[in-house]
Amino acid sequence: MVLTAQAQADRLGFDLSSEPEVGRLIAFFSNGVPSGGRVLELGTGSGVGLAWIVHGIGERTDVEVVSVELDGERAVQAQAMGWPEWVSIIEGDGADVVGTLGSFDLIFPDAPGGKIFKLRKTIADLRAGGVILVDDMDLSRHSDPELRNGLATVKDRLLQHPDLICAELPFASGVIVARRRKGDR
Ligand SMILES: C[S@@+](CC[C@H](N)C(=O)[O-])C[C@H]1O[C@@H](n2cnc3c(N)ncnc32)[C@H](O)[C@@H]1O
Repeated sequence: MVLTAQAQADRLGFDLSSEPEVGRLIAFFSNGVPSGGRVLELGTGSGVGLAWIVHGIGERTDVEVVSVELDGERAVQAQAMGWPEWVSIIEGDGADVVGTLGSFDLIFPDAPGGKIFKLRKTIADLRAGGVILVDDMDLSRHSDPELRNGLATVKDRLLQHPDLICAELPFASGVIVARRRKGDR
């Protein structure tokens, strides 16, 4: 699916897909979600990140994956790609959707809604032991001051959250992984 999604992104001129290094990390964490687990992606794009999630889950059928895309046309194009039945792609604003879909074991907020805006709600959706993965956190890659400020706030909110254990991974676009402490709830 990753090659198919990347081909679709290339065909549509969509250049915001996750880099392969980040994709492999997403696949790594996706494979680790427990039985009955749920995965949430905010910002489907052309489905590259979603394809890495599906790659990580592999032949398992005990995991549900939800991906949310604001752009209606992009959502329809992604829906048409032929995902496993346990994948659903919803058209909507991540900032509105977080807090309404239940709780998750892995969240990849990859859109402003639910990452720069309403990150607290996204964190609240994380199950104990669950992981949030954010990329594009290397601020030196971004020249837009508003975006830099937004991402700096994301970083602070994650690193300073009392219920999260975080690691900054300075590779690719810059990654932070954050796990909700077990025993927290
Ligand atoms: C960085 S791209 C996503 C890349 C994709 N996650 C991947 O790994 O290949 C961001 C996507 O989020 C969508 N988007 C922007 N604002 C959004 C929002 N508030 N809620 C949901 N999706 C949003 C954009 O249309 C775009 O497709």
